[in-house]
Amino acid sequence: MKRSAALLEILMILAIIGQSSWAALPGSYCKEMGSSTYRPHSVSVTEFGAVGDGITLNTKAFQNAIFYLHSFADKGGAQLFVPAGKWLTGSFSLISHLTLSLDKDAVIIGSMDSSDWPVIDPLPSYGRGRELPGGRHQSLIHGSNLTDVIITGGNGTIDGQGCVWWDWFNNHTLNYTRPHLIELMYSKGVVITNLTFINSPFWAIHPVYCSQVLVQNVTILAPPDSPNTDGIDPDSSDNLRLVLLSFLIIISCKEHEVFLSRDHAALASILAIEF
Ligand SMILES: *[C@@H]1O[C@H](CO)[C@@H](O)[C@H](O)[C@H]1NC(C)=O
Ligand SMILES: *[C@@H]1O[C@H](CO)[C@@H](O)[C@H](O)[C@H]1NC(C)=O
Ligand SMILES: *[C@@H]1O[C@H](CO)[C@@H](O)[C@H](O)[C@H]1NC(C)=O
Ligand SMILES: *[C@@H]1O[C@H](CO)[C@@H](O)[C@H](O)[C@H]1NC(C)=O
Ligand SMILES: *[C@@H]1O[C@H](CO)[C@@H](O)[C@H](O)[C@H]1NC(C)=O
Ligand SMILES: *[C@@H]1O[C@H](CO)[C@@H](O)[C@H](O)[C@H]1NC(C)=O
Repeated sequence: MKRSAALLEILMILAIIGQSSWAALPGSYCKEMGSSTYRPHSVSVTEFGAVGDGITLNTKAFQNAIFYLHSFADKGGAQLFVPAGKWLTGSFSLISHLTLSLDKDAVIIGSMDSSDWPVIDPLPSYGRGRELPGGRHQSLIHGSNLTDVIITGGNGTIDGQGCVWWDWFNNHTLNYTRPHLIELMYSKGVVITNLTFINSPFWAIHPVYCSQVLVQNVTILAPPDSPNTDGIDPDSSDNLRLVLLSFLIIISCKEHEVFLSRDHAALASILAIEF
């Protein structure tokens, strides 16, 4: 736990990842996404029994709320609001036409029990887990085959409590590849914005086989000695491209571990500041 106290790596990124055809016109894409942000229906995770005390496990509450919101998908979609508090949870999955919105003082906290992160199939293009043979732990917030999803907050926090995963990695007691904070597979039209991500077990944000993913105004933090805590790793698609819109600051870090996968790092211009 002591290592999590020293949050020395800071990554602030305003970026667009997506197909080159619309990446050339980020303004129009943003406007298009912006106009679709209104959801006619909204519920709070507390309506499904969640308790924001940092102790109660809320996986079922998140799953039940999202299951309930299925019925609004063809009615303009819905918002799941996470109010101020500390919301401990295992992995849960999103649906299409959903906004997951965190209050500025909301912290979604990943469980430190690996069994709360189910093991899923390896990615087809990897054929095995990235670190170990076989499956891999599902990300804290997972999405597959989705469209029109927004994950946002007034700089609310998603905390993976990764230190326990880094220990398992370092002492070779992992059974499966470590999970991400957010992984989206086969998805299109995703916005991740106005959030802080801390202490991911592994890479923080992993869009794979996706298109039209916008990651904007997020802060990603992890200690410098944490293994493979990359910020954003766009992956496995010929159609994905990263365009750095504004700025990126890395403070006192091992660049290859906080930033992008090696392939994509070359596309960005990096401003590195050490203190
Ligand atoms: C998701 O999309 C992929 C690729 O198109 C497809 O192979 C897979 O069967 C889909 N999964 C579901 C659950 O629809
Ligand atoms: C980024 O997020 C902060 C905190 O929520 C907010 O004050 C700021 O306006 C946002 N900037 C953009 C470009 O969205
Ligand atoms: C969001 O919160 C993080 C962590 O407290 C902070 O480092 C960052 O500057 C904040 N971002 C914005 C845009 O306010
Ligand atoms: C490995 O790390 C975990 C998590 O901190 C700890 O519970 C476990 O005892 C460690 N195992 C060994 C063999 O060091
Ligand atoms: C690995 O599997 C063993 C045996 O099932 C289990 O006791 C242990 O908790 C698992 N380790 C992790 C990190 O999940
Ligand atoms: C992000 O925050 C900015 C500033 O508060 C706001 O204008 C924008 O609408 C927010 N984005 C989303 C998707 O809520």
